[in-house]
Amino acid sequence: MAFSRYGLMEAPERKSGPAFGYVDDGNGGWVMNCFACHAGKVAGNLIPGAPNTHIALATLTEDVRFTKLTLGKKLTHLDLGSLKIPLGDSIGLTNAVIFGVALGALRDEHMNVVIPFSMPQLIHHAMDAPPWWNVKKKPMLYCDGFSPKNARVLLQFILIPQNSPETIKSWEKDYRDILAYIESCKPPKYPWKVNSKQAELGRTAFTNHCSRCHGTYGKIAKYEQKIVPIEEIGTDPVRLEALSVESRRKIQKSWLSHYGKDKVILDPGGYVAPPLDGIWASAPYFHNGSAPTLWHVLHPDKRPAVWKRTENGYDREKVGLQVTTFDKLPKSVKRRDLRRHYFDTSMKGKSNSGHRFPDALSEDEKRAVLEYLKTL
Ligand code: HEC
Ligand code: HEC
Repeated sequence: MAFSRYGLMEAPERKSGPAFGYVDDGNGGWVMNCFACHAGKVAGNLIPGAPNTHIALATLTEDVRFTKLTLGKKLTHLDLGSLKIPLGDSIGLTNAVIFGVALGALRDEHMNVVIPFSMPQLIHHAMDAPPWWNVKKKPMLYCDGFSPKNARVLLQFILIPQNSPETIKSWEKDYRDILAYIESCKPPKYPWKVNSKQAELGRTAFTNHCSRCHGTYGKIAKYEQKIVPIEEIGTDPVRLEALSVESRRKIQKSWLSHYGKDKVILDPGGYVAPPLDGIWASAPYFHNGSAPTLWHVLHPDKRPAVWKRTENGYDREKVGLQVTTFDKLPKSVKRRDLRRHYFDTSMKGKSNSGHRFPDALSEDEKRAVLEYLKTL
């Protein structure tokens, strides 16, 4: 029950001890690692590299903090940091990007801690982690493709002031190995039956309507990372605006990008059309996780205003999360830990608008494309 409450998964090879994505700190404490957000359960099965779409980091941290205070135990950086920076207002989503911005603000370009530091305006928003199996295809990182793909930018989470510049730099080699591991991740195969005739029809419609942005798959696979202007894509703009030109420039001028030798895009102006390999396994969709299934991606006017997933249900018809939908947040849901189980698209950063390109398809074509997407 505790694991279910916090979106944690049992580590398959361990009989006891930390959840998958957490390590023992040697003193009986658990410390999170990358897999806390970057390993997830899909239809109940653990897939390393899939987004953890169950994670309830805010609830976990609140409960841990409350318990520590009750027992008179010492608070640590996440217990304290989360008092200032919200961790994420829906399960499966985290405010990870703003954590990176805030930690970066504590450092100069050589990674020395600066005192006093000046904190930029923090625009909090919660995001769905992207699947790792697509990193190999991407020349630049993150949903707006602004960041170089190197080991250094992945060190952003360890920029807590306790770590000296020497310590941070000494870990670069390990992070090169981590990046190599990430790039070795492969998309999982759709485990159920696919109607191959339908899928073949879908391929044609996909080639005509979707490939110019999302590339081609199969024998002649081609992907060029394309940033689509925000006016054209029309999905939620908060994440794009939350990273100011200044905070992007800070990375460009610093050790993180080899002082600008690695390209940084200061004003991407839109979101990347991601590769769609293994797309069946990375619901919910869009950078903010606002569309629960591929069917909802394909039917923009039918996307639910509020939805709540079941823990392990997979909707094979609509391809994605099994959900209950609502017109608005039920009045009875008051406690914030319970509210986080409802994805409410009226909240800031959570709009499910935009990406109207499927409007050009007939209903039959949409059905075929849905079948084709299972095969990627
Ligand atoms: C608290 C949750 C969380 C943790 C922990 C976390 N990440 Fe992420 N990660 C995210 C989110 C959210 C994004 C999406 C950011 C964006 O696109 O703006 C992301 C994006 C990425 C990307 C870019 C992928 C792409 O397709 O562009 C990489 C690579 C990555 N993370 C690696 C790591 C590594 C390595 C660690 C451990 C050192 C880590 N992450 C820890 C949440 C997390
Ligand atoms: C003009 C470029 C463009 C076209 C055409 C386009 N897309 Fe997209 N697509 C995008 C962008 C950009 C995103 C990311 C939007 C975001 O996350 O806010 C996206 C996101 C998606 C996603 C969600 C990906 C994820 O990982 O969450 C799916 C699925 C998708 N598109 C399918 C399609 C299909 C199917 C078609 C054809 C009917 C199509 N797209 C046509 C640009 C395009």
